[in-house]
Amino acid sequence: MSDDVESIEIRLLLEAVHARYGYDLRDYAAASMRRRVLAALASSGLPHLAELQHRVLHDRECFSDLLERLTVRVSELFRDPASFHAFRARVVPLLRTYPFLKIWHAGCATGQEAYTSAILLTEEGLYERAQLYATDLSQRALRDAKEAVYPATALPVFEQNHRASGATTDLADHITAAYDHISIRESLRKNILFFHHDLVSDHVFGEMHVVFCKNVLIYFGRELRERVLQKLAQSLRPGGFLCLGTAERLTGATATEKTFTPFSAEARIYRYEP
Ligand SMILES: C[S@@+](CC[C@H](N)C(=O)[O-])C[C@H]1O[C@@H](n2cnc3c(N)ncnc32)[C@H](O)[C@@H]1O
Repeated sequence: MSDDVESIEIRLLLEAVHARYGYDLRDYAAASMRRRVLAALASSGLPHLAELQHRVLHDRECFSDLLERLTVRVSELFRDPASFHAFRARVVPLLRTYPFLKIWHAGCATGQEAYTSAILLTEEGLYERAQLYATDLSQRALRDAKEAVYPATALPVFEQNHRASGATTDLADHITAAYDHISIRESLRKNILFFHHDLVSDHVFGEMHVVFCKNVLIYFGRELRERVLQKLAQSLRPGGFLCLGTAERLTGATATEKTFTPFSAEARIYRYEP
């Protein structure tokens, strides 16, 4: 099959997903989307993308499987610990000056990032005044996020990350460990609302003090990235903070990027200053 036909079939598959289920993946970064579509085809056992498209159109469960494969849900507690170290050192002192805090984790995957905030805010004495919103496109990821159970094999990395973030407590204070899994303590879950939200097609909610959108924009094509960045800007109060992933940076290259100033550029923390 020539590349061109493959590109057409991928486009048709994404059109079908959009028309049938309303999820708009058409403007995601093309090269990585192609890799994931082809991996999904290989694992489906079907010979051609046209067959996969047919099945996805007629079988919702098959669509859900495909969505899982097309979105990347890798996450960790205190992933990129240096960024949380900078957040703790530089952003937290400013957050202390507010009587209440609204924090949004956009693209929270299976919840580790929201629980990271909950642990960090608890350590800094701010959790009781915080309301966290944690959203994702994937219903399956959200289901796991609400369960807050992770394999015990991830614990050494979580502990190492936590220490490197400037922790003031032991991670053991915040989790319960069983032989093959760990779970996040109930006290850390109470101020977090997990719900479905699509950054591409849903409206945003406003007045956030902090928006974490880490390792999500990287999957979008240039125009979609700018559109979503605009939504993130709309959701922040002036002076609010946007925290991105290590591979994501704002350089002032677009009108929306210009409304953000680097606050801790190495940690990818930006301040919304329209
Ligand atoms: C690699 S994970 C990032 C998880 C977490 N933020 C982190 O950095 O550890 C990317 C997440 O973005 C979500 N995502 C992709 N497109 C999205 C969209 N249009 N709206 C909301 N979430 C989306 C995926 O479902 C996935 O859970």
